[in-house]
Amino acid sequence: VLTVGPRGPLLVQDVVFAEVMTHFDEERIPERLAHAKGAGAFGYFEVTHDITQYCKAILFEHIGKRTPIAARLSAIVGESGSADTVRDPRGFAVKFYTEDGNWDFVGNNTPIFFIRDPMLFPSLIHSQKRNPQTHLRDANMSWDFFSLRPETLHQLSFVFSDRGIPDGYRHMHGFGSNTFKLVNACGKAVYCKFHAKTDQGIKNLTVEEAEKLASKDPDYGLRDLYNAIANGNYPSWSFYIQVMTFEQAETSPFNPFDSTKVWPHGDYPLIPVGKIVLNRNPVNYFAEVEQIAFDPSNMIPGIEPSPDKILQV
Ligand code: HEM
Repeated sequence: VLTVGPRGPLLVQDVVFAEVMTHFDEERIPERLAHAKGAGAFGYFEVTHDITQYCKAILFEHIGKRTPIAARLSAIVGESGSADTVRDPRGFAVKFYTEDGNWDFVGNNTPIFFIRDPMLFPSLIHSQKRNPQTHLRDANMSWDFFSLRPETLHQLSFVFSDRGIPDGYRHMHGFGSNTFKLVNACGKAVYCKFHAKTDQGIKNLTVEEAEKLASKDPDYGLRDLYNAIANGNYPSWSFYIQVMTFEQAETSPFNPFDSTKVWPHGDYPLIPVGKIVLNRNPVNYFAEVEQIAFDPSNMIPGIEPSPDKILQV
């Protein structure tokens, strides 16, 4: 530090010292309440098919158009130091930096969600975090919640299937899960579901492999994504929409705004849109990934909320 002479007090004008200290003192921020452990990368979205008949959003403007993106792929329940190979849904968040502002696509690797009523979200998460008395993860708390809320069964069937432990973050799909509304240039609207299908193919870990990795390489998911990109093996996802007209929504036998339901592909086929490509690792993980913030209400003209209550919250 700068001092007044060799023994003197330090000088407040030493701005370098002040900055070093401030940076150090503030270098911890609270971890995310959910999705605390995650990997991040950057790249672009490229339009491969024209969907302007459904959506005027500027990123879908024309075939070949590229929009820069940031992605954060995460596990949900564990804390920031937890293993990447746990049985848990995965977060799939992509920020599209469009000329009309940022569109935050805040999805998961499952097409549906545990609950349809947002009031239950705090209990859903708390039931899977630490028991307030023992400070231990507590299976009874989780199963109390799940067994009392039968609508969680659909999501649980995914989580406890062979797809419940993805092999890293490159070999899983991403879904908007919620129902959105798309508006075209003439002001005509349809409802929509978003799907991002991994071009690497689905790959999952067995319980035995996952347990071994959890002790040998708990950062397996981060490492796998980082190394793939560093080696020029850029992961990509094909992006699709499903579309439902307002008339179809009115006569649908199931509630299309219920986030515990999928839309049958036979009735609402996947319509190809483009590609998500991740081709750059963070230079500074803390600044670019830990501090990135996604908000599902960050939408751009052409993409709007639907009556889906989980999205509305
Ligand atoms: C009532 C419903 C929900 C509530 C209240 C809620 C709340 C939260 C909160 C508090 C966070 C941590 C945010 C932060 O600290 O930056 C979070 C993160 C996240 N949520 Fe939700 N969530 C809900 C539903 C959903 C659904 C349905 C999905 C996926 C379809 C989802 C995907 C994510 C993802 C991917 C992240 C991590 C984003 C990142 O990487 O920074 N959430 N959520």
